[in-house]
Amino acid sequence: MRHLAGSFPDLDTLERALDIAARAPSAQNAQPWRWRVTPSGVDLFADWTRRLGDGDSDRRDVLISCGAVLHHCAVAVTAAGWAPRVHRFPDRADGDHLALIELIEAPPSAADLELAAAIGRRRADRRPYRAESLPAGSLEMLHVRAERDGLRFGVVPKAHWGRSADGEVALQFGRRADAPADEAVLLVLGTESDTDLLRVRAGEVMSDLMLAATSMGLASCPLTMPLSDTRDRLALACEVFDGEAYPQTLIRVGWAPDDGNPPPMLERRSVPETTEWLL
Ligand SMILES: Cc1cc2nc3c(=O)[nH]c(=O)nc-3n(C[C@H](O)[C@H](O)[C@H](O)COP(=O)(O)O)c2cc1C
Repeated sequence: MRHLAGSFPDLDTLERALDIAARAPSAQNAQPWRWRVTPSGVDLFADWTRRLGDGDSDRRDVLISCGAVLHHCAVAVTAAGWAPRVHRFPDRADGDHLALIELIEAPPSAADLELAAAIGRRRADRRPYRAESLPAGSLEMLHVRAERDGLRFGVVPKAHWGRSADGEVALQFGRRADAPADEAVLLVLGTESDTDLLRVRAGEVMSDLMLAATSMGLASCPLTMPLSDTRDRLALACEVFDGEAYPQTLIRVGWAPDDGNPPPMLERRSVPETTEWLL
């Protein structure tokens, strides 16, 4: 086992945490991030070479996906006994340097371990969900978690979204509904401004809510494709946030069907492919 001097996790612990963090969801599984490990901590960078297109929604997807992997990494190191102190955008001269995670030895709580255990079970579940109400208080709990981290939280009214037979979710404003909403609840996370920092924060909170939903036994799927239409995004902002927040991501939440056909565990890039070790 390799060790560093002083109070820093051994490298096997870090490698394992980064491998677990890679389970984070990302738009089209693009995994648009890079890590750098130095004696000061773990640095996260956006990897723009993995951006899926030229639109602003593609830029948002990179930042939200990076926020999700940042949160997954924080959960993984916490469970390994290292409390993360996260500095977002630590280098004013480098906007691709999204975070520096410093690590302080600290035992995890039972809640920390529960959230970490959800990482291996979570999948983007695009199946139709069961017609059953969510557990009492669960939406309120997700709401509190989002607002605790400074995000705006809303539920998209069923009249304004639909899900087609092939599983595509679409927002519906000012036109005839092509398909009705299904049994899921469609959540929306918003930010007070549309900055890179808040887009990363939205990804962190999206990750937190999905892991919390998984630990309650619920299925979930993050969705940003329906927000790529600027008019729909604006109409949603007016409908749910009175025009006072920018929708960043949707999350479809509900009970998975008992169809014996769970979503597959998709491949991830390996830690050596994403990580530079400068120790
Ligand atoms: C920012 C972001 C946007 C996403 N947008 C969509 C989407 O519009 N439609 C969809 O079906 N899945 C979407 N996903 C889910 C990803 O496709 C999924 O996370 C990825 O393929 C990895 O699969 P997994 O989450 O099951 O590990 C999105 C995920 C993220 C993080």
